[in-house]
Amino acid sequence: MEITQVKRAARVAEMPEIDWIEDRVLRDKVIDAWVAALEAHGFTQIGEMKPSGNYDSMPLLTGTQCDHMRSVCRLAVKTAEEMAALFPNFRYDRDILIAGALCHDIGKVWEFQPDNVKRWKADPYCVGFPSVRHPGYGVFICFSMDLPEAVAHIAAAHSAEGELLERSLENTIVHWADVTFWKTVEAGRQFAATDTWLEGLTGGVSGQPKSAAR
Ligand SMILES: [Fe+2]
Repeated sequence: MEITQVKRAARVAEMPEIDWIEDRVLRDKVIDAWVAALEAHGFTQIGEMKPSGNYDSMPLLTGTQCDHMRSVCRLAVKTAEEMAALFPNFRYDRDILIAGALCHDIGKVWEFQPDNVKRWKADPYCVGFPSVRHPGYGVFICFSMDLPEAVAHIAAAHSAEGELLERSLENTIVHWADVTFWKTVEAGRQFAATDTWLEGLTGGVSGQPKSAAR
């Protein structure tokens, strides 16, 4: 696949927080990772993916999957700025925080891909259902696209997988921003009442609470 300037501009237009990354090399890697991830899995924009935490959890009443990732990024930056203003010795990597937040759910291009979900649903014992959750697939994308280990770690361990290891500072901030987003959506009654994605194919598959794992 060819990564063109037009495709890159479309990614920044959909996710303007990409321009908050000061390191131009890191910024371009985030852009190219999203260009490649979307195109390789049949999406033209992030907002085409189901707007939910998991493929089988309830979708947002309004708003998109891209809104989720952008909001987590802004929440994470605000959290870091709050702590930095409070504690003179608080140090964090702002570029890694932003890049990690914007890429934390990049693996959803695999887990939320409709053909994949239909295939897994048809025979859950063939390759698993899902075969790989978005954190795992996010690691594959991050390393394939030469993103830093610190960003791959955020993709890998922002969710329940991170309970098996120590999260970095930046990942800890992203993890709790992600939790805050979905829990506040739930308490604020911003989930849709019914899940009509793929004609309700995935409704209640995992049996998890709608915001259990992100
Ligand atoms: Fe998320």
